[in-house]
Amino acid sequence: MSPAGVITVVGSINVDLIAQVRRHPMPGETLHGTGGQMLPGGKGANQAVAAAKLGGDVRMIGAVGTDTQAEVGLAGLRAAGVDLTGVREIEGPTGLAIVTVAEDGENTIVVIAGANDSVDTAQVTEAKEVIAASAIVVCQGEIPREGIEALPALVSGRFLHNPAPVMELDPAVLRASDPLVVNEHEAALVLAQLAPGAEVPEAPERIVGALREAGITSVVLTLGAQGSLVADADGTHRIPAARVTAVDTTGAGDAFIGALAVGLASGESLPAAARLASRVGAFAATGQGAQPSYPSTGDELPQLAE
Ligand code: RIB
Repeated sequence: MSPAGVITVVGSINVDLIAQVRRHPMPGETLHGTGGQMLPGGKGANQAVAAAKLGGDVRMIGAVGTDTQAEVGLAGLRAAGVDLTGVREIEGPTGLAIVTVAEDGENTIVVIAGANDSVDTAQVTEAKEVIAASAIVVCQGEIPREGIEALPALVSGRFLHNPAPVMELDPAVLRASDPLVVNEHEAALVLAQLAPGAEVPEAPERIVGALREAGITSVVLTLGAQGSLVADADGTHRIPAARVTAVDTTGAGDAFIGALAVGLASGESLPAAARLASRVGAFAATGQGAQPSYPSTGDELPQLAE
């Protein structure tokens, strides 16, 4: 096999403030919780850490603030050996996420962008050589629209795009995604942008079909306990989930994407990379927090429920 290519993640770096609760509060309600830990997070940083812990050669393009939280946000990236040359320090606060985790492992997250809001066209363009030399360029929806829209023109490998949260984007940028990684809710929002007014199908097979018909190069539709559906020019494949008891799903989707990037950077097909990603995402749901729950090479991953 040829040596794995470089993975560049362009995205958010946050500090996650975690509250564990029995159940999520209703609007207007105050509940007692436990926890209060500050852990490294941010979808971009999480995906970079997940890929690096699995042996990927990973570069991060992003920003932290000038506050003391910056070091918390960078700690996991440093420990995993991610190259931080492309991370800037911006006057003001580091990105913050307020994460509530209920007893069933499900979470709610409120993100305050802070320094992530500065990852603009200029910063992305400054990194154009690194981006062009990367086998896989990964991005999400926690940096400004212009930073994301600058990417496809600079990418010469694959553009792994996880539009979470979904924002209004140039349709050409959505179509350049290879793959676009979305859940059903995000898929509906993307379809509404690409085919305004068209009915959004309910069946997962029809959703990936509609995304491909709208011009997206390849798609991974994540379906929680039902696994995922992968669609590209070679057809559509169902990838099973691994059965685990979820403790905390925070960042499990990011672990999935980091692993997908590692598989693709090693030259695996999209379905083969999605099988690895499914096992890694399940592993991550069995531990607390995002980055601390990610497997390293050598950790035993759960098997897929074939
Ligand atoms: O996907 C989980 C991540 O979303 C958290 O780490 C939080 O920082 C938000 O970006």
